Amino acid sequence: MPRAEVESAQTVQPAARVAGELAVPGDKSIAHRALILAALAQGESWIHGLPEGEDVLATAGCLRALGANLQRSGRTARIRGAGLRSFATPHGPLDCANSGTTMRLLLGVLAGSSLSATLDGDASLRRRPMARVIEPLRTMGAKIESPEGRAPLVVTGTSLQGRRHTLPVASAQLKSALLLAGLSANGPTTVVEPLATRDHTERLLRAMGTDVGATVEGVVIRPSHQPLRPIELAVPGDFSSAAFWMTAAALRPRWSVIIGDVGLNPTRTAFLALLRSMGAEVKLEGPSADIEPHGQVTVIGRGLQAIVLGAADVAAAIDEIPALLVLATQADGVTSIDGAGELRVKESDRIVTMAEGLRRMGAIVEERPDGVSIHGPVALRGATVEAHGDHRVAMALAVAGLVASGPTTIEGADCVAVSYPNFFPQLQELTHG
Ligand code: S3P
Repeated sequence: MPRAEVESAQTVQPAARVAGELAVPGDKSIAHRALILAALAQGESWIHGLPEGEDVLATAGCLRALGANLQRSGRTARIRGAGLRSFATPHGPLDCANSGTTMRLLLGVLAGSSLSATLDGDASLRRRPMARVIEPLRTMGAKIESPEGRAPLVVTGTSLQGRRHTLPVASAQLKSALLLAGLSANGPTTVVEPLATRDHTERLLRAMGTDVGATVEGVVIRPSHQPLRPIELAVPGDFSSAAFWMTAAALRPRWSVIIGDVGLNPTRTAFLALLRSMGAEVKLEGPSADIEPHGQVTVIGRGLQAIVLGAADVAAAIDEIPALLVLATQADGVTSIDGAGELRVKESDRIVTMAEGLRRMGAIVEERPDGVSIHGPVALRGATVEAHGDHRVAMALAVAGLVASGPTTIEGADCVAVSYPNFFPQLQELTHG
């Protein structure tokens, strides 16, 4: 069955050129957090520019199932929050669908509540590691049961004790889950990350009146146990969605794209520097100085060189690596990425699924346990490839199809509905409009 009216197999034709200006859906990471925190606030919040993808719908659905008063009209939601205490035990399992952010963040919130809930998701989410969140939450006193550290997760809310966590992996979802648990805990909670990750949770919590921030000790939250202030927020365009268009433009000299109102939070934009070091021209207008900075990005193709990435680059551009692998097939030299083990626990094992798809198109790819190398440039050929239920794999392979010698069919491409239901119509407009 096609999802959200996206056909499950999509065929991409080689492009004569990429040129145009477009807007991308609202940022998924920010939208999840804004909805959750608005439901935890006391009073009426307005969130504008929400994305229509399934992941954020899952968060909204879970919050409603917990009793939140959330009304959505198009891309705007009004949430009448009444604090964590107003949450009610849901009638059935909370369906997080494909969304790791929904599951991990809600687990942090519910750990310190006074209700019980089961968090569940689709087959992909049931395979993803949850012990990384469950174990540190348990050290705060959380009561969570799960089969082998995976969903479904049964959480029984209880009073939590703040503590210091040193994280073994760089994960904004994990950091955010612990900060959200810290919000209702007794005493401060500190999160020490091996590498800095996106700070959307911290920015929103601060804007809503919480004492939270990065210190030399780590990210510290000192809960006041006062209700959060409601918020009005315009969610900027999703940088990680925009990265596919930036990639398309960078693939060939003189191809170009302008993306308006895209999120430019510095913890998300490392891909711009990577694009520049590969040779693309990148121009920015803005960024604005809002809670979440945003502005316009222009990318113009100028020929590509290979680059070498380490763990810090991967953490800073985690969702953009599939797109970067596509660029690597057209770059001069060997692009080598290490410290990339986290790619294996995304919506798919992105080292395996990207290597498989790109190889079918003629790319030369070497896989390592925590890395991957791509030799370029190669002339890609059109092929039938698999999305493996992973929206970013589907979009990355579709963009690769623009520089292949014949049509590329992406099987299971309807999974783009998770973050970008309108991706394929926009791809058509940008390349063949
Ligand atoms: C996200 C964090 C990242 C990212 C995901 C969204 C978030 O996951 O890959 O798409 O919103 O916090 P990890 O925290 O697992 O690295």
